[in-house]
Formats: sequence, structure tokens, C-alpha cells
Amino acid sequence: MKHTLHIGDVEVGLPAVQAALSGYSDLAMRTVAREHGATYAINEVVLDALVLQKGKLQRRILSVPEHDHPVGGQLMGSQPETFGKAARALVRAGYDIVDINFGCPVNKVLGRHRGGWLLQDVDIALSMVESVMQAVQGDAPVSVKMRRGTDDSPEAEKRFWTILEGAMKLGIAAATVHPRTVRQKYIGPSRWEFLAKVKQRVGDFTLLGSGDLFSAYDVVDMMEQTGVDGATIARGCIGNPFVFQQVRDLIDGKVLMRPTCAQQRAAIERHWQLAVPFYRDEGRALAPVRMHVIKYAQFHKEPVWAREQLVRVKKPDELLARVAEVFDDRFDEARSRELRREDAVVPARQSCGE
Ligand SMILES: Cc1cc2nc3c(=O)[nH]c(=O)nc-3n(C[C@H](O)[C@H](O)[C@H](O)COP(=O)(O)O)c2cc1C
Repeated sequence: MKHTLHIGDVEVGLPAVQAALSGYSDLAMRTVAREHGATYAINEVVLDALVLQKGKLQRRILSVPEHDHPVGGQLMGSQPETFGKAARALVRAGYDIVDINFGCPVNKVLGRHRGGWLLQDVDIALSMVESVMQAVQGDAPVSVKMRRGTDDSPEAEKRFWTILEGAMKLGIAAATVHPRTVRQKYIGPSRWEFLAKVKQRVGDFTLLGSGDLFSAYDVVDMMEQTGVDGATIARGCIGNPFVFQQVRDLIDGKVLMRPTCAQQRAAIERHWQLAVPFYRDEGRALAPVRMHVIKYAQFHKEPVWAREQLVRVKKPDELLARVAEVFDDRFDEARSRELRREDAVVPARQSCGE
């Protein structure tokens, strides 16, 4: 198992990457993840048109602070011409890697011939990749994020290989494969055997795996079982930035520890401190931050109670006081306990906000 990941000429570092997470992986989440051991984080997917359209959103997408590197900018779209232009704008703004989304299974996205829809049209998919490669001109590595096909048919698998191998010929530096089909959305397991098959076929080409990574143990298992060069942690890092250091610790042969209440409080307070300037004021920051905070309840001694308390926060000035109550040291006597494999929390409701 490789311990340092490279994507093209970018040294990514820890092979456990913070995945692109729509509605979540903003600057605040990425910074908290980095401060807890992540070395590469990907911005939430952005529409090419929004990158090109002047306005507040464009300014937010295109401002990459110095501490947020290496960072991936992920694009979604349906028109090769605008796709390339948007990729160029991301690189100019300072994104270190451009990632192309061929995976999103949300109906609205599919209806607009974006994301996972492109896995059914080899020609358009490859012209999107070509447009990005030409626009970026080698100034940043380009990667693609794919599901293992539109559905379970042999034709869908054939298109998967044609797109992946076509994109490799066009010069992409890496691919991330989420081995669920677009039709499957989140129902049923991520088929890790498919990752092993892809890795065997692509050889030295950099391959990252995605799907069902809910703990550091899962990350190391995926890498060992499938041979992928890295893994992108998605649902497993929301409310759990600690997972990145845990992957490092596991690689180094250390015993894994659960976060203490004090560590959780500190991570949430930091997230809030970063989110307020990012969203410009506390009122706007509350909703996106609360989505993360609620997920921290999963490691609480009383997770159901903790979640209920956090869901009830309706005003910004209630947030930190409630967090202090819920993550009070009395719940763990300020002592960290060992994190065992069976402690991983698998989401009951499979969801995706891509
Ligand atoms: C809320 C949410 C938002 C997501 N947003 C994106 C996204 O913007 N881009 C992307 O490529 N994948 C996105 N994904 C997919 C994840 O990156 C990942 O491939 C998928 O969740 C499988 O990993 P998991 O089973 O470990 O969660 C999203 C998933 C979730 C749950």
C-alpha cells in the first residue's frame, strides 16, 4: 500500500482524500479537515456556468486562500466549450487539480445531461475531457470522478471502459471510481471488487476508490483489498474530521482513539469561526454549519439525545452554547476511548445531495 499519493505532479500526501461533497465541502469544512490531518480536499461540485458568470458566487468559487492547498476544483456541465473555459478559470484562480464529475445521480442533474448522465454518451463525455485538457494546457493535473456505469448492463460497463481509457489517452492524471451505478444511487453496497478489476486493468495509472468508507479501518481495507492508490472519504468525514488523522495513525500502526467531547467542541467551534466570514454573517452560516454539527452526534455516548439537541438550534447565538452542553466533558470524563472497527456509524438513510 502506498503511503503518499501523487496526482500528476502534485504531491497530495495522505492517500485518504476529503471527497467533493455538495452542500458540505466548502472552505470551512476543508480547512477543518486539513487541521485534522487531511492533505488534499476537493471543493463541492460547481456548475461550469456559475464559474463563468460574474457575481458573488463566482467570486466565492474563485477565491482560493493560501492555506487551502492542494485543493481540487470539481466541475459539472453538459457543454464541452463552457466546460473547458470554466476549467481554465479554476486553474487561474489557484485550484491545483481539476476534477470532472461523471457521477452525480440526482434526477435534476441527469435531466440536464450532466454528471452521471454523461456515462451514457461516450462521445460527449470524451469531448468534455478533451475540452478541459486543451484549456488547462498542462498547468494542472486533470482527474475524473465516475460511477461504475449508468446501470448493470454489459453495454454500460463497456461505456465505462471506453470513457475511462479514452480519458487516460487524452492525458488525465487520475480517476476516482465510485463503484455503484448511477441508477443504483445509494441503494446497496459499493462494489469494491470492481475497483480491484479497474486497478488491475489500468496498472500504474493513479486510481482512487470511493464508497462505503465510514472509518479509517475501511479506508485501509479498501486500499489493501483493491490495490487502489488512494480513497476519497465522503459521508464518513461529515462530522468526523478526525478520520484523517486516524488513517495516518492506522498506517503508522498506532491504536485508534475516539475523539473526546473536548476535541469535538473544538472542531465545531473552529468550523463556526471559519464559516461565518465565508458566508459573510452568522445568519447565513447557521444552516450549512448545523448540517455538520448534527453529524458530530454520531460519536456521542448518547447519540440520539445529542442529535435531538443539535437539531433544535434555530438561532446563531444558540449554537455554541448548545454544543457546549451536548459535548460536555462529563459525557466522556475528558478521556479518549479506543475506536474499534464496530464503532463506525453507517448512515441509516442513504442520501446524496450532489
Ligand atoms: C451529501 C453528498 C454530497 C455529494 N457531493 C458530491 C460532489 O459534489 N461531487 C462528487 O463527485 N461526489 C459527491 N458525492 C459522492 C461522494 O463523493 C461519494 O462518491 C459517495 O458518497 C460514495 O462514498 P460513501 O459511500 O463513502 O459516502 C456526494 C455524496 C453525498 C452523500
